[in-house]
Amino acid sequence: VPHTLVVRYPARPRASRIVVARGALAGLGRFVRTLTSATTVALVSDARVLALHGTAARRALARAGVRAVPLIVPRGERAKQPRVLARLWDRMAAARLARADAVVALGGGAIGDVAGFAAATWLRGVPWIGVPTTVLAQVDSSVGGKTGIDLAAGKNLVGAFHQPLGVLADPDTLATLPGRQRRAGLAEVVKAGMIADAALFRSLERDAGALARGDAGALERAIVRAIRAKTRIVQRDERERDGGPRTALNFGHTLGHALEAAHGYRRLLHGEAVAIGMRIAARLSVREAGLPGRELERLEGLLDRLALPRRMPPTSLARLAQAMAHDKKRAGRAVRWVLTPRVGHASVPRLISSRVVRSALLDAGARP
Ligand SMILES: NC(=O)c1ccc[n+]([C@@H]2O[C@H](COP(=O)([O-])OP(=O)(O)OC[C@H]3O[C@@H](n4cnc5c(N)ncnc54)[C@H](O)[C@@H]3O)[C@@H](O)[C@H]2O)c1
Ligand SMILES: [Zn+2]
Repeated sequence: VPHTLVVRYPARPRASRIVVARGALAGLGRFVRTLTSATTVALVSDARVLALHGTAARRALARAGVRAVPLIVPRGERAKQPRVLARLWDRMAAARLARADAVVALGGGAIGDVAGFAAATWLRGVPWIGVPTTVLAQVDSSVGGKTGIDLAAGKNLVGAFHQPLGVLADPDTLATLPGRQRRAGLAEVVKAGMIADAALFRSLERDAGALARGDAGALERAIVRAIRAKTRIVQRDERERDGGPRTALNFGHTLGHALEAAHGYRRLLHGEAVAIGMRIAARLSVREAGLPGRELERLEGLLDRLALPRRMPPTSLARLAQAMAHDKKRAGRAVRWVLTPRVGHASVPRLISSRVVRSALLDAGARP
């Protein structure tokens, strides 16, 4: 059963259309034709994804009479570099990509971020369509319109809000994803349930075994609901106002980002760092926001069943404090935490005393 969500933003003339369906990739050409008047698309992807899913994507585009120019970028975060972006612009110029044409991003979140930003800037903005092929990209990065690249000074420092005209999420493409990556992506689904959708959280508890195994039906159900939850949040707060609804999406991320930075973005996948971050944020929530102890246990139990990490790799407290102090989303000098009073709800980011944070971090395995 295909699920279609139409996402409208108050400030935008055109809605974004999100389709989630097993096998949807075969309909990519029709999707592009319905949403745009493109005759050529820049198909931005990496070599691995292109080898696994590129043929299906290109056949679908060809069947609909759309010319696809493949633009290959490095795998993973290395795609999000200024010189990769500059090369994309040059290749778009060579392909004579016109105002009515479009960019198609086929791959994980990094591909979506750089391809979406290339679309935001090329000819001052052309349409783009996301074809996310990781769990994280399907539930998180393809919704909300954030695009951008990294600098040596930090991740995601340059970018734009540029909503995709359409997103085609095909859960069958996740079959080729390494299990560790699939499970890490599920951490963001757990987050969506925890902060905004108690029924999603319950369905994850029911389906945890199937999700951990990569069952496509269970993945499809979870992905549809997680996208709905994120959509409801970003529609009310497209630009992430200070203290606005969108800040709730940072649940687990205060510490998650710090852990990733402290380990040079190598040791932990983003979702693994967020899983550890959510465990700590939930423990702080018991103390500071009245989260019942048994709801903390539900979160811990669900993350355990998805084989997401319980403890942080050896990290010094000083290194973590330093990384948190550099977080792009901090308010002034203070570090704020999104807490949850109960499953399905989040509170506005709050200042937590450093003594309380310190003891929670030590409990979770940080080195004094
Ligand atoms: N724009 C947003 O709102 C937003 C939100 C969350 C994260 N992000 C960004 O997303 C990025 C992380 O995305 P990610 O976790 O998808 O990882 P990724 O994009 O870094 O991709 C990881 C790897 O997975 C491989 N891969 C992708 N799909 C595959 C498939 N179906 N089968 C086999 N291999 C596949 C890729 O080749 C790549 O090597 C970060 O850069 C992060 O900043 C953006
Ligand atoms: Zn995240």
